[in-house]
Amino acid sequence: MLELWLDSANPEDVRTALSWGVISGVTTNTTKILQTRRRFREVIDEICKLMGDKPVSVMAIESKYKSAETIVEEGKKLIEWHPNIVVKIPPTIEGIKAIRILSEMGIKTNTTLIYTPLQALLAAEAGATYVSPFVGRLDNIGYDGMELVRNLKTVFKNYGFKTKIVVAAVRHPVHVLKGALIGADIATMTLEILKLLYEHVLTDEGLRRFLEDWEKVPR
Ligand code: E4P
Repeated sequence: MLELWLDSANPEDVRTALSWGVISGVTTNTTKILQTRRRFREVIDEICKLMGDKPVSVMAIESKYKSAETIVEEGKKLIEWHPNIVVKIPPTIEGIKAIRILSEMGIKTNTTLIYTPLQALLAAEAGATYVSPFVGRLDNIGYDGMELVRNLKTVFKNYGFKTKIVVAAVRHPVHVLKGALIGADIATMTLEILKLLYEHVLTDEGLRRFLEDWEKVPR
């Protein structure tokens, strides 16, 4: 199954997507939190409350990812805020060290800013719960982001890794479709893109016609 997650730090967006009944997780990042103009802790608390027992990815940004020790400390602090927080960590040497320590402690991690299959391999070997290839950002600089997802899938399959693939930095519904065709586990997207998954001009036109004809049906 391809899980759909919301890529947003806006609690209003989370509320809306939850009311549609299709999302099973949220990813946040520092930039998205900045856009809310609200306090970090306040926004995360609100989103976690809304999501209940579903995963909410949060960057361990206060550590500035300087050392495995500081990342681990922050990861432990974050899950005290809410047990369903997934600690977002980049695939640096210190980051991968922290992923190994946190995974041994049973704390979930999402390896963010993945741009090569080897970064994902390192994360998976360290026990990461999720890896997030940023497909749209690769497309933006002339690479094929979905090719990265295909390669990750192959590498994980070859070695039986349980680490889940999150298609991230999604820019349009085709990224989601391709993720599903490749067999990625999750796609995380903004509310705008989530809404586009429902839409087709022929659906609108067909529905309009059915409603129009219904008015003429004798009853
Ligand atoms: C995922 O975890 C990230 O928050 C996100 O997908 C980044 O995407 P962007 O390139 O739209 O900022």
